[in-house]
Amino acid sequence: MPSREQPTAFEESIRILRSNLDVALADIRQPSVVVTSANPNEGKTVISSNLAISLAAARQRVVLVDMDLRHPNLHRLLGAQNQFGVAEVLLGQRPLEDALQYIELPPQVAGREGPGLYFLGTGAQVSNPTELLDSGRTARLLQRLAEQADVVLLDTPPVLPVADTLVLGRMAAGAIIVTEARRTAITAVQKAKELLIRNQTRLLGVVVNKFQPRDADYGYGYGYGYGDRRPPSDDIIVEHEGGHIHSNGADSDPAVEGTDHPL
Ligand SMILES: Nc1ncnc2c1ncn2[C@@H]1O[C@H](COP(=O)(O)OP(=O)(O)OP(=O)(O)O)[C@@H](O)[C@H]1O
Ligand SMILES: [Mg+2]
Repeated sequence: MPSREQPTAFEESIRILRSNLDVALADIRQPSVVVTSANPNEGKTVISSNLAISLAAARQRVVLVDMDLRHPNLHRLLGAQNQFGVAEVLLGQRPLEDALQYIELPPQVAGREGPGLYFLGTGAQVSNPTELLDSGRTARLLQRLAEQADVVLLDTPPVLPVADTLVLGRMAAGAIIVTEARRTAITAVQKAKELLIRNQTRLLGVVVNKFQPRDADYGYGYGYGYGDRRPPSDDIIVEHEGGHIHSNGADSDPAVEGTDHPL
């Protein structure tokens, strides 16, 4: 996050996502939300980490969990450790309290008094992620985390290649699908959505990531632009029940250029 008073377009998009999520979750106490995509590499980890920071900066107590036991990456973006986490807690090798890490908010949003951001990494690689996740232990872990938080965000694997997220979706209040503009076929997103719904997961919204204004011609229709900003290099659209909001998105923000810190 560049240190300037004007938020970047990407930050504005994340704020819109945050407030849409607040509305979608208004009636749910202590919700867990799956952040997923149809295919790999669409931006789940970037979006979930930035959303978690944004929620924490808005004084919510947030637990961000790396449930991508196959391709853990959140700890790198957050500068956290991944020696032990979900795997050890589920296998009964570590108490949850030992595995949860407190994450300092970036300086631009730190200093606001709030209950903070906590992170649970994946821990050691396991040979059978789906089986490990598909258990009462996982449901109890999510329940315990939810009791300590206003919102629990789960960064998960993509839906189409593996079943892990479908398993987790049943235990969560709902799911956000992140999709990469230009790259992901609409049919793939529809398939992911159908799979989630068939597995009793409520779809909370779709984030079109890495969006550029010219993508509007490709059928990613959008409602309205954000102010009169110059078109950015990358963008996200936040869609939710009842419509969609377009917001100019990522510019040269290092978060979306693949550096180590999300903001
Ligand atoms: N809005 C954006 N603009 C530009 N680049 C982005 C944006 N969002 C994500 N990226 C880049 O896309 C790549 C994939 O992002 P990320 O790791 O968040 O995806 P993922 O869906 O979590 O991937 P995986 O399926 O491997 O877990 C990274 O290099 C990241 O920096
Ligand atoms: Mg990821």
